Amino acid sequence: MSTITSTPITSATSPFLNDVLNGLMAEKKFLSSKYFYDETGDRIFQQIMEMGEYYLTDAEMEILQHQTDELANVMVSNSGAFDLIELGAGDATKSVHLLKTLLNRQIEFSYLPIDISQHVIEDLEENLPKKLPDLKVQGLNGDYFAMVKKAKSLSGRRKILLFMGANIGNMDVAEAKEFCKALRNELSPEDLLIIGFDLKKNPRQILAAYDDAAGITKSFNLNLLSRINRELDGDFEVDQFDHYASYDPETGACKSYLVSLKNQVVNIGDETISFAANEHIYMEISQKYSLKEINDLAMETGFTPTADFFDHQKYFVDTVWKVGE
Ligand code: AVJ
Repeated sequence: MSTITSTPITSATSPFLNDVLNGLMAEKKFLSSKYFYDETGDRIFQQIMEMGEYYLTDAEMEILQHQTDELANVMVSNSGAFDLIELGAGDATKSVHLLKTLLNRQIEFSYLPIDISQHVIEDLEENLPKKLPDLKVQGLNGDYFAMVKKAKSLSGRRKILLFMGANIGNMDVAEAKEFCKALRNELSPEDLLIIGFDLKKNPRQILAAYDDAAGITKSFNLNLLSRINRELDGDFEVDQFDHYASYDPETGACKSYLVSLKNQVVNIGDETISFAANEHIYMEISQKYSLKEINDLAMETGFTPTADFFDHQKYFVDTVWKVGE
């Protein structure tokens, strides 16, 4: 006779379950947007980047298509070979333009994309050499800080960190500050940090990017509930939640919520969670910045702002920070 043993998912063994229960059992319910990106979430995010309202992708793409020469000039000004380390590389569609320019100019560097998805890293290591045969690429699968440390142990070359796509927007201002300080602590004089920020602009335009008419952003948020159903043995009635987005022009915080459409009870594994009608779950922040706020952030975290690259409408900035004075 054989016995079938299966290991139950518990908060001790699953950080995902632990974070979900922690957030949904809190007085003000919240979930973390870092869990949006399962296979379905990746696909919906691709659709977001293609929708008319989501201006961010086109704006940053314009910067990388038209200003890579100027960007490369800033990167090589200190001369010497370097490691170009990209945090959250994704499919690197934007960075490819920069990589191409650096290769054409015969600048000596290696590309080290970091991503928490093993799948993303495998894809990059397979496909980038096809597009860019001369590129030296080594993917690093794991947590940003652990992988930056690993990159430092692999070579003593100068480091240039790339953190594009306004991914820093998924931290609130205090978290972004801690994050930049922590990055600064991993870097040495002559190293650079290049960050993409979405700039404050007409509030209606920002809100529309996160509250699109076709409801793609809504499905992006609801997918996290479906993911909890799939992976954590949950029973969310996904159509009993609505999406609500808000933008506060004073603070620059653009926030997404899911709102319960009725009094309801949801089971996740062995836990039961109650929702009152109209109770919300805070899902995501996409923080917007002014140029002054970006410069202040640099100065407060041990960097010196060195160059700014904008799209022609000044929707977006890729900013270059040097370590120290
Ligand atoms: C990937 C964090 C840059 O905040 O604009 C897009 C994610 N969320 N629409 C953003 C997102 C809803 C996106 N980032």
